[in-house]
Amino acid sequence: MSTYETITVEKNAGGTKGVTLMTLNRPKALNALNSGILADLTAAFAEYSEDDTQLCAVLTGSGDKAFAAGADIKEMSEKAAADFYLDDFFSPWTSEIVKKTRKPWIAAVNGFALGGGCELAMMADFIIASDNAKFGQPEIKLGVAPGMGGSQRLTRAIGKSKSMEMCLTGRMMSADEAERANLVVRVVPQADLLADALKTAGTIASMPPMAAIANKEMVNAAFEMTLDQGLIMERRIFQILTASEDKAEGMAAFIEKREGNWKGR
Ligand code: CAA
Repeated sequence: MSTYETITVEKNAGGTKGVTLMTLNRPKALNALNSGILADLTAAFAEYSEDDTQLCAVLTGSGDKAFAAGADIKEMSEKAAADFYLDDFFSPWTSEIVKKTRKPWIAAVNGFALGGGCELAMMADFIIASDNAKFGQPEIKLGVAPGMGGSQRLTRAIGKSKSMEMCLTGRMMSADEAERANLVVRVVPQADLLADALKTAGTIASMPPMAAIANKEMVNAAFEMTLDQGLIMERRIFQILTASEDKAEGMAAFIEKREGNWKGR
């Protein structure tokens, strides 16, 4: 267990081999995302990326009320526009966490995921929600707008009409509505959320690790490229994977009716 001030990190969480559990740990502030959490998460994701024994991560919030209720409003209220602009405020969430984390990770949303909290969940490869989860981009009520990707990732996830309405009214979306809108993979009772997320992460961690990274890269490319470019990239990655030791092992294991023994190469 690594030690951070604002999050907890557990490797092989609950005995699930290869799965790192990260928990946002400011429950009194509903896990609001301040600069301390950003620094800790950046370090924890870097540690996860560098540790070859850890193959899938789960991010959740402590307490039973919130995943994260947004960027820390108290911290932001003291900053001037020049500070936000000159520090390129919020930029590291994407540049340090999303772009540098090539291995898969899942958001297990256990309550409010508002503003930056919703945006952080959407940075994950996919979201599993508890039945009390609530999603929203209420920044408009504070006189601002999403700043960590909400207007872009929410719109790509659920389409223009719903995203526009969410951003313009600041209303919250229930877990069930989020599932119908394809924002989350599934909704489970709150008591089962962590077990479900860890089990899913365990399944991913049991896959050939290089193929897992490649599959993530391919799906993400669908948001960045034209169909033609994406299809070319997909074929090239497929072709490269056929040269891997794990391709030989995976196909032999299928033919010999046994489990694969992955090398990660
Ligand atoms: N920042 C700082 N503190 C927060 C917070 C936030 N985003 N959200 C909640 N808290 C704090 C509250 O101030 C309160 O602390 P105190 O006890 O010290 O007063 C504590 O958490 C508990 O919150 P509430 O008493 O408000 O709890 P509630 O159950 O009555 O309401 C809530 C829950 C509806 C989530 C409400 O707390 C709320 O509306 N929070 C703000 C949500 C929000 O506007 N998020 C967007 C932030 S801006 C942003 O994220 C920008 C961006 O795009 C990155």
